[in-house]
Amino acid sequence: MEKNKVAVVGAGLMGNGIAQACATAGYEVVNIDTFEAAIEKAQETVEKLFNRKVAKGSMTEERKAEILGHLTYSGDLADVKGAFLIIEAVPEKIEIKKETFKKVDELADLEAVIVSNTSGLSISEIASVTNRPDKVMGAHFFYPAPVMKLLELVRGLVTSDETYDTVKEFAGKIGKTTVDAPEFPGFMVNRILVPMQNEAAFMVMEGSKPEDVDNAMKLGCNHPMGPIELTDFVGIDTMLATMTGLYNGFHDSKYRPCPLLETMVKSGMLGKKSGQGFYKYDKKGNKIGS
Ligand code: 3HC
Repeated sequence: MEKNKVAVVGAGLMGNGIAQACATAGYEVVNIDTFEAAIEKAQETVEKLFNRKVAKGSMTEERKAEILGHLTYSGDLADVKGAFLIIEAVPEKIEIKKETFKKVDELADLEAVIVSNTSGLSISEIASVTNRPDKVMGAHFFYPAPVMKLLELVRGLVTSDETYDTVKEFAGKIGKTTVDAPEFPGFMVNRILVPMQNEAAFMVMEGSKPEDVDNAMKLGCNHPMGPIELTDFVGIDTMLATMTGLYNGFHDSKYRPCPLLETMVKSGMLGKKSGQGFYKYDKKGNKIGS
């Protein structure tokens, strides 16, 4: 089997970035999403990002054309055919993940490996709906996926060594460093990071200014972004889903999600992507206040 086609299922914030990272490394990539609007938005986002890079001088027009030449979009899940690796990046809900894996398993080549970009759901549970649980594992990217150097590798209970080796080799080719993360909620990074963001949200709920909480961690710990702006950046819904996963998975009250996050999500304040989170954003995604 030729190992040059990668399919990324899901064209949201993560799927779009993962597809970009693979195309940049020279893989032939198809980014699939059954929502037409998601595909249009993904294409627009990549175009805008690359145009900014060209204007800034960090990318040439030739390189832009070369990468875009490796990247196609599709609304048809059957286009996973021919891919040696399928990366699932659909919303972080176990039912949606399982449904997607079931369909992809039916359509993909028999030898293909299917990985989930879940940030903390059980790989073994997701793999259980397929006829190839040994060829399923977790490959968790960080946002923004083309920039962040880490890939968490998560083996399910029956993931084979061959599958692990395939994904590790792929990670090296797209320039990521891997860590072996345990198959427990939050894996490695989110188990440490998300409770910190949650605690920061509690401080805002108790009356602290978001700017103060962010400056405290940026200037006191050299974090590139404060925990509140990072929550807006990755999406309040995504962060809350991960925190809820920790709470339900460990059955431990130390992971209780901050009620303010729940209220914000219920009211449609999802962070940068919705234009309003802890801060306000203009149409270009620039912060314009709190
Ligand atoms: N997609 C692709 N590339 C992006 C990008 C995006 N959304 N945002 C920025 N970049 C690229 C820029 O194009 C630029 O590339 P260039 O040097 O080739 O021109 C480069 O990144 C640097 O960008 P900027 O100069 O605009 O900005 P900064 O130097 O401030 O860097 C940042 C931006 C890398 C996002 C930095 O602020 C950062 O490291 N933030 C913290 C990110 C973080 O903590 N991520 C983890 C989130 S948790 C998570 O992902 C868990 C998951 O489960 C949700």
